[in-house]
Amino acid sequence: MDRSIKSNIGQINPEPLGAYVLPPEKHQLYKRLLLSICKNAPIEFRQPSTDGEPFTDRVCHNSNQNLLNDFDELNDLKKDLQSITLNFIHQLGYLSDQVVINDCWLNVTNKGAILPTHFHANSYISGNYFVNYDPQVDTRLQFLNDRYDRSAAPVIQLKRDPNNNTAYNMPSLNINAMEGQILVWRSQLAHGFKKPNERNNRVTLSFNSMPKICTNGTGNYSFVVEG
Ligand SMILES: [Fe+2]
Repeated sequence: MDRSIKSNIGQINPEPLGAYVLPPEKHQLYKRLLLSICKNAPIEFRQPSTDGEPFTDRVCHNSNQNLLNDFDELNDLKKDLQSITLNFIHQLGYLSDQVVINDCWLNVTNKGAILPTHFHANSYISGNYFVNYDPQVDTRLQFLNDRYDRSAAPVIQLKRDPNNNTAYNMPSLNINAMEGQILVWRSQLAHGFKKPNERNNRVTLSFNSMPKICTNGTGNYSFVVEG
């Protein structure tokens, strides 16, 4: 290109991913509580590994369970997750006074585990708290690039330049999270990880949330979420 021609590649319709970091002493307290629950939770709260995910155990993953409601010692964590979710909504420029964490569960991921790509239904904002996580050996959470090659219509496909990874030519994005961090995103985003985890006991907490009052502000359409 003629060097006198100026260029700028701007972004339209960007997708937000919130990253929040707990203070170390707070994270260590929550970590102790959550790892204790992983170890000692009564059998009715446990969902052992399945044929589809043979190396992952979960706690409170049934629809009638909610880690934050079923274990009173997590009340402060519940308040923090609610305030983080509200802050994310406000930073995106939307109005909401209260959120309901309608699902919350623990994932205990062992050596060899993958997380099939999925998204969370019946939820507005989802999140992942990295409770026991070593970024040197634990597999990173991956989000699909929903702007990449997603059209069902005939499309023009070009070969990717392997020396120029951009937000526009990557089918997915691996997130460099660290322990104590909480990621939040809009629940329709597909995520997972394909690289098998390299060690036992990668522990994360997942949650789904809804604005308590869902209204578009016109006074015509709304509902209230109990919880
Ligand atoms: Fe998920």
